[in-house]
Amino acid sequence: MKRLLSGIKPTGELTLGNYLGAIKQFVDMQKDYESFIFVANLHAITVYNDKEELLKRTRDLVAIYLACGLDAENTTIFLQSENNYHTNLGWVLECNAYVGELNRMTQFKDKSKNKSENAITCGLYTYPTLMAADIILYDADVVPVGIDQKQHVELTRNIAERFNKRYGQTFKIPEPIISEITQKIYDLQNPTKKMSKTEENPKGCITLLENPAAAAKKIMGAVTDSDNKIKYDPENKPGISNLITIYSALTNVPIKDVENKFKDSNYGTFKKAVAEVVSQFLTDLQAKYQEIINSGKVDEVLDKGIKKAREIAQAKVKEVYEKVGLSR
Ligand code: TYM
Repeated sequence: MKRLLSGIKPTGELTLGNYLGAIKQFVDMQKDYESFIFVANLHAITVYNDKEELLKRTRDLVAIYLACGLDAENTTIFLQSENNYHTNLGWVLECNAYVGELNRMTQFKDKSKNKSENAITCGLYTYPTLMAADIILYDADVVPVGIDQKQHVELTRNIAERFNKRYGQTFKIPEPIISEITQKIYDLQNPTKKMSKTEENPKGCITLLENPAAAAKKIMGAVTDSDNKIKYDPENKPGISNLITIYSALTNVPIKDVENKFKDSNYGTFKKAVAEVVSQFLTDLQAKYQEIINSGKVDEVLDKGIKKAREIAQAKVKEVYEKVGLSR
């Protein structure tokens, strides 16, 4: 069975974008892959995070993974910080990556834009090499992510290939898996920008644990054009296309069929239908989340997951250290 690996940072509230671009893919693919899904908490501290908030979001993320349908019987779910081999390999990869490569990372450029050099951590800069370690430590074949992470997976491939050339075949070269329709869910108020948990305008972003009625209101207030036709055309009709994507992904109805179903509807009717689907999705998800977060399930799953993750990672780091000359 081929291996799948992916992770999410426990910073900010998880959004509908995180669900549709990433978690839904993990859930849909888990039966066909040996899956490793982790909480990327080491990545979370590349920017300052309040300790209590980080702890809460870490547990919440695991509960949300489970509430969304990750099956801990078959999928290994773990905390990155509990597996020291990530940072061990991260350092080795940092020493096999170039400043020029990291300078080209658009996420770093975006996140450090308009900030002084004294406000940008070195961790934020070298974070893609830790992400590369997260992936190749497990010889992952596939990495499902949203489009914003594609460049990091490409860098991972380059570093892995370079290492293999220098030190002999060691790592599998991973493939990014990017959903064609949900690779980027857009902000509801500014549909040319990614829906993001750090977005300043909360009206544009739906978070997974927010009040379903409030979320429905945000859909009703989403910015659209004035053409009043339910047609998927991301270039010319980004707002309505984003809503079609959300509706299609949550109901598993293909985009063409959504267009057909609403061909005689106006935007008000369509928005109402999308709002209902989103609010029902959140209601169901939150009921499951409540059940899990108030049980011992989160610790049970993490205790089990870390054992398997460590075992695989330990063997890989041993091999790497031997190849590089970091043993006696
Ligand atoms: P993060 O935590 O920013 O995002 C988690 C996942 O959600 C996707 N995503 C979206 N997809 C569609 N539309 C959106 N609006 C949207 N917003 C977020 C992201 O593309 C991502 O797949 N560096 C990673 C975490 C990470 C990782 C890894 C991922 C660390 N190590 C190894 C894969 C493999 C990150 O910051 O994602």
